[in-house]
Amino acid sequence: MVTATERNELIDRLERTVEPEQGWIPMFVYSDPDVYRLELERVFGKTWLFLAHESEVPNPGSFVVRDMGEQSVIVGRGDDETVRVFLNSCRHRGMKLACEDFGEVENWRCPYHGFTYGSKGEFMGTMRGAPFERKAYPQGLDKDALRLIEARCETYDGLIFATWDRDGESLEEFLGDARWYLDLLFGRAEMEVVGVPQKWVVPSGWKLPSDNFTSDAYHTATAHSFLGRLGLTKGVDFGRDGYHVSPGHGHGLGIGIHFDEESYFPPELQDEYRSNLSEDQYKVLSRLKNLHGNIFPHMSFLQPNFIELGGRKVSGMMLRVWQPIGHDRLQVWSWHLIEKNGPQWWKDAAKAAYVQTFGSSGMFDQDDTENWELQTKNANSALAREGEIVLHYGMGLEGEPLTEFPGPGAVYDGKFSEAAGRVYWRTWLDLILAGERS
Ligand code: FES
Ligand code: FE
Repeated sequence: MVTATERNELIDRLERTVEPEQGWIPMFVYSDPDVYRLELERVFGKTWLFLAHESEVPNPGSFVVRDMGEQSVIVGRGDDETVRVFLNSCRHRGMKLACEDFGEVENWRCPYHGFTYGSKGEFMGTMRGAPFERKAYPQGLDKDALRLIEARCETYDGLIFATWDRDGESLEEFLGDARWYLDLLFGRAEMEVVGVPQKWVVPSGWKLPSDNFTSDAYHTATAHSFLGRLGLTKGVDFGRDGYHVSPGHGHGLGIGIHFDEESYFPPELQDEYRSNLSEDQYKVLSRLKNLHGNIFPHMSFLQPNFIELGGRKVSGMMLRVWQPIGHDRLQVWSWHLIEKNGPQWWKDAAKAAYVQTFGSSGMFDQDDTENWELQTKNANSALAREGEIVLHYGMGLEGEPLTEFPGPGAVYDGKFSEAAGRVYWRTWLDLILAGERS
């Protein structure tokens, strides 16, 4: 437990030493326990957080259990079809209402004493027949005061986000220019999640992978060089050719482009793509070879590099959350999404590619995880804690954005840039500094 003075000193230290615009970030911020406590309050307690895809809660009464920071929440579709997000905590003694990962219910009944809540978060009393209600509460219960605590919830392209900030910007404002690019993955067609998300624990600070997906196409040539060596791709150009995009708000992405005549995506889906995307978006999708990115703070996405399997080009799309479960540990949540109306060959091949390349046994994940784990160890070292280790974030510092690219945001030619990474750190620092000093 740090004192108020120590906490203020830490905030001052961060203000002094985190220098995104100069391209320098002190390494201790990746896994310092006191920084982590500040993040839970000032980042995860304030900003929009991705929780689920709408296809995971298809029916009235369906719900999934997720986390906002370290707080468990229920994402549920009400009997009025509206998706809402509630703190997973009973108003009586704070027991978790939903202990399972997902389900479909008419009511949530607390497993402790039986307080029951409807799908809109309303308190309904104790369970059927109101056992003991008249004896236990002869004066009656104020049902309004016992509603579940609700977060602000909005969706974009089927992606469900929530925030505890009641009066801040809307989700559309928060996503800003990133929406144009999210459409290429999540809005190009009716998408659905395949199965349930895979989850596993990695001994890494949560910002390392978030930062990687924001602006690190550079690592692919080295960390994932097996692709070229196995002949699955020609060289390592998938990490270099294309565009780096800094859409603002701390989001970031990289787009790999090919110059073949035909789109790599299935011909059967082209009409649906055309009807959902603008002409410019459709043109970019037709040239798309890969797309990686991160929505601040910790939702990552990837349309991996298309590889040739069985004479067809295949790519298994994924969505990630780097769920913090401590200052130096995270739980990976990994979803595979596919076009609901896509042909069966595409669904099968994309799933096979996803499982092989990403996911708990994915070849790419194993490459990346080792780096994040060992970086975290270094970030926990005495020298890092003392501020001796400062990391270089200067790639593309002099770069000028393109003027002719059809998509919005600051777009740079070639994927070798850390421009979006610098904005990620600026956004992070601004949130940390925005709270009160005690
Ligand atoms: Fe939920 Fe008592 S804690 S009913
Ligand atoms: Fe990687």
